[in-house]
Amino acid sequence: MAERDDSAAPRLLRGFTTRAVHAGERPQRPDFTPTVTPIYPSVSFLADDPETQDAVFGGEREGYVYTRHGNPTTRALEIAVAALEETEDAVAFGSGMAALLAAILNEVQAGDRVVASRDLYGATQALLGNVFGTLGVHTTFIDIRDLDAVQRTMAEVRPRALLFETISNPLVRVADIPALVAIARKHRARTIVDNTFATPLLVTPARFGVDTVVHSTTKYLGGHGDATGGVVATTRDRAPEITELTKLTGAVLGPFEAWLTLRGVKTLSLRMERQCRNAAALAIWLTEHPRIAQVYYPGLAPPADLPPIFSGELRGGIVAFDIAGAGRDEVFCFLRALRICLPVTTLGDVYTMVLYPAMSTHRTLLPEERAAAGIGDGLVRLSAGIEDVADLIEDLDRALDCVPPPR
Ligand SMILES: Cc1ncc(COP(=O)(O)O)c(C=O)c1O
Repeated sequence: MAERDDSAAPRLLRGFTTRAVHAGERPQRPDFTPTVTPIYPSVSFLADDPETQDAVFGGEREGYVYTRHGNPTTRALEIAVAALEETEDAVAFGSGMAALLAAILNEVQAGDRVVASRDLYGATQALLGNVFGTLGVHTTFIDIRDLDAVQRTMAEVRPRALLFETISNPLVRVADIPALVAIARKHRARTIVDNTFATPLLVTPARFGVDTVVHSTTKYLGGHGDATGGVVATTRDRAPEITELTKLTGAVLGPFEAWLTLRGVKTLSLRMERQCRNAAALAIWLTEHPRIAQVYYPGLAPPADLPPIFSGELRGGIVAFDIAGAGRDEVFCFLRALRICLPVTTLGDVYTMVLYPAMSTHRTLLPEERAAAGIGDGLVRLSAGIEDVADLIEDLDRALDCVPPPR
């Protein structure tokens, strides 16, 4: 097929505005390859001829026609995430929630059931309960650490999908992925795992047979707090169906965010290693602090007590802790006194960040519901950044000193 020839174009660009609109655009395909994937902000893509465009539209040929259907920068990120998650393919989304919506929607229809972890991120619980609930998909929430209860519930409910997080939020409970996959398979249910907290550096759920892995790339994969996004990493047969869903729901990731995330992914292992080491050091330091009642961090448990899912010795960048006898006023005192750690509602960035679950992720729960979930009024979640850990310790120590002692 003849390549489109734009060489005559400059002669036709007579008027000033015509030149302003077209001059310099759509150069012949270069005979060089940029080292870094370019950002393609283009909404549409010019084909060599209408036949080629027709074939791309019809899915008979790879290519791009319209960014909601696919974009080269976004595709580069999808390929990178699939390579890290060791899945056959991946599809990017405008946020982690959009990725979760598509991953679940791809498995269920009205009348189906889902079994999900009770420890899920609040918005995921609301998505299942409110949005899918309204669509006639009922979810049963259970404690996935109780494998007997999971067996019983799966046998009773016969769900289409089992959904859980590798490491839960905010109490950093670790899921026994191989055992949960085995139970799901026995009951012919698909497994969907949110791997946002662990990242593929620590845990690769597909190795244990998980069907679909979801990320909020807003967190560790992007890593710099400057790009909201999500991704579904899955099998070759599911990815096209999920892409179709993206085309129709329009929850696509923009090329600029895709590029930022792709850049973040390159340093994932370096950042994550430092964040995990900082988190481990802070967890140990907090354990010994007189104002701290309890510390939650998977690295504090003997390795034999953890599910066998970690690829190496790193145990995550999130630590949670209970300030002894603290309630809202004392925690606010602590948050106000911090100078380096940022009290913000996200995690996984290069900055150390703290969050008060009772005010944010779990604010809609009644105090007794929060207590039942193990979320006390003095609980703080910390996402370790890459700063020098001595500075973080000094900051936390000073802020804890500001908290009035328990009455
Ligand atoms: C574990 C987990 N999954 C999904 C999400 C949703 O991601 P996003 O904010 O990118 O939509 C979050 C957000 O905090 C999260 O913590």
